[in-house]
Amino acid sequence: MRGLADICGAKRLVNIPGGTMDPMLNIAVRAARNAGDLIVRYIDRVESLTVTPKGRNDFVSEVDRQAEREIVNILQKAYPSHGFLGEEGGHQGSARGDFVWVIDPLDGTTNFLHGFPQFAVSIALMHRGHLECGVIYDPLRQELFTAKRGGGAMLNSRRLRVSKQNTLKAALLGTGFPFKDQSQVVAYLGMLRELMKDTAGIRRAGSAALDLAYVACGRLDGFWEIGLKQWDMAAGILLIQEAGGIVTDLENGDKYLETGNVLTANPRLHGFMFEAIRPHLTDGLRYAPPGGGARDASTDRVSL
Ligand code: IPD
Ligand code: CA
Ligand code: CA
Repeated sequence: MRGLADICGAKRLVNIPGGTMDPMLNIAVRAARNAGDLIVRYIDRVESLTVTPKGRNDFVSEVDRQAEREIVNILQKAYPSHGFLGEEGGHQGSARGDFVWVIDPLDGTTNFLHGFPQFAVSIALMHRGHLECGVIYDPLRQELFTAKRGGGAMLNSRRLRVSKQNTLKAALLGTGFPFKDQSQVVAYLGMLRELMKDTAGIRRAGSAALDLAYVACGRLDGFWEIGLKQWDMAAGILLIQEAGGIVTDLENGDKYLETGNVLTANPRLHGFMFEAIRPHLTDGLRYAPPGGGARDASTDRVSL
């Protein structure tokens, strides 16, 4: 029987170089590729993996943990004074440095555990709260998305631009369901209903990092999700910004990393999506400044 890795051609494809001169981005690419290779090695034996529940509808496997260790080891060897925020290991390394790597070692764990071929490694570097570079690597398709602040975004060796789609009616959007914290499901379903009737289609593929990368390369015209973590979106946000797209929170502001709520699209569609979403905003989806008390302050964040 053919395994998923064969079906997707991962074993047959040759390596495509990252093609970057930036040392930090180069190290991130190396870490993402190594983690991706590790993930693919496990793909035909997911049944034998130890899977632990982390919370409601939230699972972690030993592959997530090993991949994160691999990434942190590579980055830490190159940059011993940097800090790390990983989905599985939390804050590690220097807490006082200016540089923090934000890591999702396996975005799309549920897909991976079901053999559904849509998952990725996501690594971003923040400098004093600003996104500096980002890498998203799809190990099955061997698609490497990279971005450097001010230096553009690439898919393998091709420069990326967001789509030019200018009507919602013809747009293909991506989204994620709020399946972990379900307190905003009603608001979310209102948004979904609104956008579903006005667009060509909506996809829920199960990896926010790849959804964002797909906006950057124009496969999706827009995307929104509520309740993301920084490691889900940091690299993808920079990719989209560098590919000419707009990224906001659901109030059309810039607090996406703080709120975890993100709305992104090409510049022609962003306003239309915002108008569709706005009537369904609740207080729980609005930004509340730290200390304001309205929203749970999460420790899973790099302070901005
Ligand atoms: C999840 C995926 C999913 C999104 C969730 C994320 P994980 O990440 O990105 O698409 O809807 O909010 O938590 O847990 O597979 O790394
Ligand atoms: Ca994730
Ligand atoms: Ca993950």
